[in-house]
Amino acid sequence: MIPYTYKNLVVGNDIKIPLKNGNYAVAINMDNAATTPPFAQALQEIVNFAPMYSSVHRGSGYKSKLSTDLYEASRATIARFVKADQSRDAVIFVKNTTEAINKLSYRLCDGNEKSVVLSTEMEHHSNDLPWRNKFRVDYVEIDHDGRLSMNSLVEKLEQYRGEVILVTVTGASNVTGYLNPIHEIAEIAHKYQAKLLVDGAQMVPHIQIDMKSFDSPQHIDYLAFSGHKMYAPFGSGVLIGPVDTFNKGAPEYTGGGTVRSVTRNEVSWGDPPQKEEAGTPNLMGVLALQAAIKMLSMVGMQNICRHEFDLWQYTVDRLRSIPGIVLHCDIDPGKPRIGIIPFSLDGMHHALVADILSGEAGIAVRSGCFCAQPYVRKLIKLTQTQTCKKDKQSQDRPGVIRISYGLYNDFNEIDVLIQILSRIVERKDYYIQRYMKLR
Ligand code: ALA
Repeated sequence: MIPYTYKNLVVGNDIKIPLKNGNYAVAINMDNAATTPPFAQALQEIVNFAPMYSSVHRGSGYKSKLSTDLYEASRATIARFVKADQSRDAVIFVKNTTEAINKLSYRLCDGNEKSVVLSTEMEHHSNDLPWRNKFRVDYVEIDHDGRLSMNSLVEKLEQYRGEVILVTVTGASNVTGYLNPIHEIAEIAHKYQAKLLVDGAQMVPHIQIDMKSFDSPQHIDYLAFSGHKMYAPFGSGVLIGPVDTFNKGAPEYTGGGTVRSVTRNEVSWGDPPQKEEAGTPNLMGVLALQAAIKMLSMVGMQNICRHEFDLWQYTVDRLRSIPGIVLHCDIDPGKPRIGIIPFSLDGMHHALVADILSGEAGIAVRSGCFCAQPYVRKLIKLTQTQTCKKDKQSQDRPGVIRISYGLYNDFNEIDVLIQILSRIVERKDYYIQRYMKLR
């Protein structure tokens, strides 16, 4: 069972929220794949530092120099956490994973119309759309369970032999929680002279990641992740990759902090990583992220991984005994995954179930297509004409319900979830009527 201290690592774990019947219940958050609550320590870091806060890279005052030093030093903490190479990689601070991937798409875009980026059928939109308008994009296929097909990866690399500049793949799916074999993928991609970007948004908070040395065929060339999914929701994210990638040309955002010198007619760009961080840096966000990383390391990524897997197993075992529950992922405990469970309930719309969970038990889940419409459409076998429309009112809007765990979730919360789901199944018509009126 969970040591209770994990729960106290985050703020808001004892907050009571109103239920539909007017009573109050302690909020239960099972939507950590979307965003996590802050670590108390990350908040504290900001509060503690606030009296010394000043401009980064732009001042000669004591506080400004201190702020600059802390900001720059935090790059090393981040690099160590994911075992990046501090002498060859740039650690670039951005807003989130989406911005990181967009940034890389601009930096890799060389105007060569033949260049291919291989994305996959299991990506969320942020690791698909940024590539589309700049490269020829194709998608590595998934198998019948929704796991990445390694055969398809090799086939695509063969098909575009010599033209694939980048394979871009999520480390862990935000829909099914499947972990991809990123080092095996790296090895294969490198054989074909392609680089690898790992979208680490769902992976870095849940499992130890090792970018490995530049000399290793299993080296991860680029890594992107977000603070807000790892208990530091203060607007910072990270892109890591070889300095060389960012040396040439202009950044996609220009302005203060990006240049060495400017005249009316000429600009000399600065060096990465600063060149890639236009405008005043988000020092508070970066300090919070650094504090979160220290906390994750202190708890131990192995402990987190094991605990979240136990939560997953406990939930799946119980969900399977509820009639009408359909799981949309494989449930082989031997296969690598993080604590995410997509499911639906026969005869009930996913958004309605999500509303009932919130209104009856204070449980927050996400429902719909999770910004990964092509993947969800394949998982639930939609036809080409059925889309995951964003029209919230539409009762036929397809999608599923998603539970996603963080390190602070516990088994008592799962018991509450199972109880309310069993009640919904027993009194389906009653709940449909009660909640349909609201919609
Ligand atoms: N990708 C995030 C999620 O899965 C937004 O909810």
